[in-house]
Amino acid sequence: MAIIKNLIEKHNDYVVNLRRHFHTHPELSTQEFNTQKKIIDELSSLGLHPKKIAITGVIADLQGALPGKTVAIRADIDALELQDECDRPYQSKHPGVCHACGHDGHTAMLIGIAKTLVELKDELQGTVRFLFQPSEERFPGGALAMIDEGALLGVDSIIGAHLWQPLNVGTIGITYGPMMASPDEFTIKISGKGGHASMPHQTVDALLVGAQITVALNTIVSRSVDPMEQAVISLGVFKAGDTFNIIPDTAILNGTVRSFNEGLRMLLFDRIEQVTKGICEAAGATFILEKFLGFPPVINNPAISTILADAGTKTLGSENILTINPVMGGEDFSHYLEKVPGAFMFVGVGNKDAGIIYPQHHPKFDIDEKALAYGVEIMTRAALTLLK
Ligand code: NI
Repeated sequence: MAIIKNLIEKHNDYVVNLRRHFHTHPELSTQEFNTQKKIIDELSSLGLHPKKIAITGVIADLQGALPGKTVAIRADIDALELQDECDRPYQSKHPGVCHACGHDGHTAMLIGIAKTLVELKDELQGTVRFLFQPSEERFPGGALAMIDEGALLGVDSIIGAHLWQPLNVGTIGITYGPMMASPDEFTIKISGKGGHASMPHQTVDALLVGAQITVALNTIVSRSVDPMEQAVISLGVFKAGDTFNIIPDTAILNGTVRSFNEGLRMLLFDRIEQVTKGICEAAGATFILEKFLGFPPVINNPAISTILADAGTKTLGSENILTINPVMGGEDFSHYLEKVPGAFMFVGVGNKDAGIIYPQHHPKFDIDEKALAYGVEIMTRAALTLLK
């Protein structure tokens, strides 16, 4: 269908300019009011009837002339708390707020897909639902609120994409099962007995207990998890003590747990608790373990991954459709996948020669904007296939 490529080429400047608009005017999770207004204005100008959802989100249906299935396409629209240092004309005008994850591009692509499909309306079989989701970056994420308010009612399948810096522009990455991990968090508060550093026998050294727990937690994945499974336990915070000659009475550990299935997720938390309990009991310390379960893992439906990959092949050639290993990052797209079959892909935006080398969430993060047209084309083609 050469017509699709032509349409997307025709709308490319529009999509790039939209992305730059959103990049210049980023808004934090749950505060995307101007972003919402811009999305509504653009969709309305296409003749659609967008509605507000999940406070700062947008939902709109494009009903084709012919009967068929309903396919949802989702974009997340929020930015990060970070100073933009991309040094481009479209640099953020909002101090301390930056689209350093590429959600500006996701939003622009989805509007571009809508603009493309509106022109194909007469041949369209079924309904395409556009989901502009707020607050992906902030737990508990905006997906649950979207679903609670009916975003998936009548939906047969769902697709989504993330612009992805580790992949070169002109390629996409996909899996046919687990794609992204469940990003869980935990905090361990250890209570011992403080005292003079010269009289350790009169204390219960919370710092030492914390150190032993740190080492022991780092053995869980290597000793308790099937080597064929993937899991991560990492500590990012260890706080204890204020000065050199006082043994501290408390220590705080804070870390993350990543995995791809529910059973393993629970096993990791059980082991964290057992290990912490054993070490605290041996030392005479007590502890409180707090768990914060993040999003479920993103598990792609293999048949829908294949449809995305086929659409990718038509757009970029089969040599540029990469089957990748799952990544340990999290995404609340998983909530949709728990309800309806769907798949998520990464669209490469990296380009060393153009200096586009900074990772996601870096103040100098930027994308090769050619990726936008590729994302629009692949998702448009996949949606058309899924409608049939
Ligand atoms: Ni993101």
